[in-house]
Amino acid sequence: MTYLITGGAGFIGSNFIFHMLEAHPEDRIVCVDKLTYAGNLATLEPVLDNPRFRFVRMDICDREAVMALFREEKPEVVVNFAAESHVDRSIENPGVFLETNILGTGVLMDASRAAGVARYHQVSTDEVYGDLPLDRPDLFFTEETPLHTSSPYSSSKAAADLLALSYHRTFGLPVTISRCSNNYGPYQFPEKLIPLMISNCLHDRPLPVYGEGLNVRDWLYVEDHCIAIDRILQDGRVGQVYNVGGHNEMRNIDIVRLICRELGKPVSLITYVTDRKGHDMRYAIDPAKIHAELGWLPQTRFADGIVATIHWYLEHRDWWESILSGAYRETNEALSVRV
Ligand code: NAD
Ligand code: DAU
Repeated sequence: MTYLITGGAGFIGSNFIFHMLEAHPEDRIVCVDKLTYAGNLATLEPVLDNPRFRFVRMDICDREAVMALFREEKPEVVVNFAAESHVDRSIENPGVFLETNILGTGVLMDASRAAGVARYHQVSTDEVYGDLPLDRPDLFFTEETPLHTSSPYSSSKAAADLLALSYHRTFGLPVTISRCSNNYGPYQFPEKLIPLMISNCLHDRPLPVYGEGLNVRDWLYVEDHCIAIDRILQDGRVGQVYNVGGHNEMRNIDIVRLICRELGKPVSLITYVTDRKGHDMRYAIDPAKIHAELGWLPQTRFADGIVATIHWYLEHRDWWESILSGAYRETNEALSVRV
């Protein structure tokens, strides 16, 4: 079986590729990634020579190239991680979010239809539901919660979800969608809260907390997200949306303090800065459906996962320092020529 996985040089996609190569030793993976600023081919270096793995540098918006690759590889399963993923960047420059997240998804689904894939899986986000109030801890996002987006990023992801469901209904494309909460773990780009705070701590730089730091996110260890998608691919029902989250709500300020404590750095590094525009207050997933239908439950407790993550960044300083210095872009060019 051949899986075509997009966005595999990014955070979750790379973790998913490692998971799938190990969990499905009989299967092959073709990874498509444009290597934008968020793509780091050094992450995939350990598998570049694996005969069950192929890396293709390609923009998912490039219709002709994508169609040709699907004709050549005839993938049975497509998993679309490729996206512009950072909310702050979407506020600065929405255009590329609309292109990759919406039009790119459309191209992949057209190619999937033409190739007659057995499954097209769209990796979505809990941000499509908007946010919940802090004073209603009894409320959670279910799959029935109306879409109510706040940022250009979340709007582009919601648009892609609607497009995917329409391809299922109109064309019978065997679509599934997962909507996951905030991930953390190895290989996350150091622009996102947890790796940014770790890398700034290690450089004794200020830790920029937006607003009062009271916003709540529902954190899930990345490997648990990968296992959830794998379960959906194996036994999920087509046409269905599955929420993925582990009932692990944390305030931003508490995460940042925890990182300071674990790294032995003073909380005086914390600097309160201007809030994000349209900043969502609270995300909280109800994962009852994926638990009941597919038996999925998170396996990593936050207390363990966050310590493992901090230690990963301590032990893989080269990985994130090369991003901060920009050297990873040259590595991307060099490795792209090799594959
Ligand atoms: P990321 O930014 O780390 O990686 C995105 C990858 O997509 C990069 O390798 C980039 O090069 C590639 N890419 C971007 N535009 C492309 C294009 N036009 N063509 C081909 N490749 C392109 O993102 P991530 O955090 O790993 O998120 C992966 C997916 O999961 C996204 O769809 C995101 O919306 C979703 N998601 C993320 C989280 C999270 O907490 N990070 C939670 C829920 C859902
Ligand atoms: O919920 C899933 C989403 O989680 C994914 O769909 C997105 O792709 C992913 O980026 C993430 O979005 P967030 O906006 O929640 O993640 P981010 O790491 O950017 O921010 C987490 C919280 O921390 C948020 O409330 C904003 C705050 N923050 C973030 C940064 C980068 C700060 O206070 N300071 C910062 O410097």
